[in-house]
This record gives sequence, C-alpha cells and structure tokens, in this order.
Amino acid sequence: MRSNQISIQKIVLIGFRGAGKTTLAHLLARELQWEYFSTDRAIEQSVNLSIPEIVARHGWDFFRQKEAEIIQQVASRKRIVIDCGGGVVENSRNMERLRPGALVVWVDAPLAELKQRLRQAGNRPLLNQPDFDRDVEENYRRRLPLYRNYANLRINTSEESPEGAISRILSRLPDRSDE
Ligand code: S3P
Repeated sequence: MRSNQISIQKIVLIGFRGAGKTTLAHLLARELQWEYFSTDRAIEQSVNLSIPEIVARHGWDFFRQKEAEIIQQVASRKRIVIDCGGGVVENSRNMERLRPGALVVWVDAPLAELKQRLRQAGNRPLLNQPDFDRDVEENYRRRLPLYRNYANLRINTSEESPEGAISRILSRLPDRSDE
C-alpha cells in the first residue's frame, strides 16, 4: 500500500432504523469480498434471544451494554462491513472504537419515509417514547447531529438506488489493487 494513502480497513454503516443499512451492507460485503457483520445479530446470538425479547426481559440498558461489548470485540477487525444498530451513535465510546481506519457511511431517508417503512415492518420495540410517532420523531431528531458528525459520507436511500449508493461508497476507497 502506498504510504500517502489513507488506509480504509472497514466500512461502518450507521443510520436510523429502516434506513436500509442492512441491504447496503450485504451488497458492499459481497462486492468487496469482505466479511458482513451485524451488531444486532451478534447481540441476539450472544444472548440467544431476539431483540424484542431482550428488551422485554432485560431492558434497553442491558441491550446497550451488550451492544458496546460486541462493538469492542469487532471494532479492530479488518476487511469487514459492520452493519450497526441505529442507536450505536448514542454511546461515544462505540464510535471512538469504530472510527479508526473506517469509512463511516450514514444511511438515511426522510423522516416520513422512515416512519412508513417502520410501520410496515412493525417488528422493532419502541425506544423510549409512549407512542410510535413520537418515538420515531424524537429519536431521529436527537440522533441527526450525531449521525452527521460521525459520517464520512451520507446516502439517501429514497433518492439513490442501491447500485448508485454502492458505487459512490466504493469510489471513496483507495485503489483496492494496492491492498
Ligand atoms: C435500535 C435499532 C435497531 C436495534 C435496536 C435498537 C435503535 O437496529 O439495534 O432495536 O436504537 O435505533 P436497526 O437500526 O438495524 O433497526
């Protein structure tokens, strides 16, 4: 690798629930032939429960603690696409661990569209507000500056096709033949 190039060893996808992180992460991993890693699936496997069950039995604090542990374990791996849960940015330690050597991609969509997608999916427990609309709106608004601050690149999945997004992300990687 040429010494004046910034070395990117991993891609970290952040963004709100329903924005499309998982679709892009799988496509990127396949294109790059890098490992795909979902923090949510790793948490579920470590506890042997689904996210709704974890939250119902143990609460969000327990979930966030598991999330931080998983991130600590995975953060230093290379040639990996890390598909993060939407709340990963709320703990600055998570992002301090993930950022070195990473291209951080913010996968986003307009709030109205996120709501629609989430309503249709209907399988995510509310975070901290009593009703669905408030939960999505308040958490999205609170996280916006965090996503913006940590991201190297923003993708709007309501405007950009997965293929267009992938080629824009790949164009930010140094010449891969130098690996
Ligand atoms: C969460 C998002 C979820 C999952 C958990 C909490 C959040 O991941 O980590 O339900 O705080 O926004 P996705 O963004 O993959 O849905």
